[in-house]
Amino acid sequence: MVDFGFDIKHLFPQPIIRVQPHSLRPKITQLHHHHYSLNVNPQRRHLTLPSCQLSQILDVMGKLSADAQGLRHPVTTADKLTADQVVYLMADEAAGHWAITGLLKVGTKDLFLFDQEGCCRRANQTPAILDFYVHESRQRCGQGKLLFEWMLEQQGWSPRKCSVDRPSKKLLAFMGKHYGLVRTIPQGNNFVLYEGFFDDPITKC
Ligand code: ACO
Repeated sequence: MVDFGFDIKHLFPQPIIRVQPHSLRPKITQLHHHHYSLNVNPQRRHLTLPSCQLSQILDVMGKLSADAQGLRHPVTTADKLTADQVVYLMADEAAGHWAITGLLKVGTKDLFLFDQEGCCRRANQTPAILDFYVHESRQRCGQGKLLFEWMLEQQGWSPRKCSVDRPSKKLLAFMGKHYGLVRTIPQGNNFVLYEGFFDDPITKC
């Protein structure tokens, strides 16, 4: 499990939390007046702020996800998180102490997509699965399903309406197993769409 050198329990009032850019960047006033770890060297004090701890967690988990997918550059870092994106972080204390078990980054994208007839359509604010990772020690135990279901509920999304950015073989298998999503609609970009995506009316371009 990943050791962050600080206790993560206080960051998790429940097993899955939502992280958005505003939860990450500490304001100057916070840096001057926060009440965390007053014994820490003042120059390093801000590192104990929850917002900084969350940034470190995002960077480390983003790197592990990239390694697991064989990507040279992480899809998820604290700096790269934009206002239209959300990261869901999952943790538990199954290992005897609180540890991060998974990360799921989602967002909305304005995309030009091909429908089943091969016509190009504009799809604004398309739900997109951008980065998904469960720690190696916990894969294939249902953790990914838990995290994904939580995300769908929070976002108000249904699986067949999600576009998936460069899915790995494992994620393709995951979507097939849990949601019966196997048949895809070929695209000219890196996104994978599943049949059913265009079932409701959508703007034609
Ligand atoms: N080989 C093939 N299929 C797999 C594997 C694997 N090693 N691991 C998970 N799956 C699929 C299978 O369908 C599996 O069902 P099965 O065991 O009956 O075959 C199912 O996922 C298991 O479901 P969960 O236990 O709920 O999923 P898990 O906790 O393993 O999380 C995830 C799935 C996130 C894909 C995880 O396996 C992982 O982190 N993999 C490495 C990183 C990765 O590939 N992430 C997706 C990148 S693409 C993107 O993010 C847009």
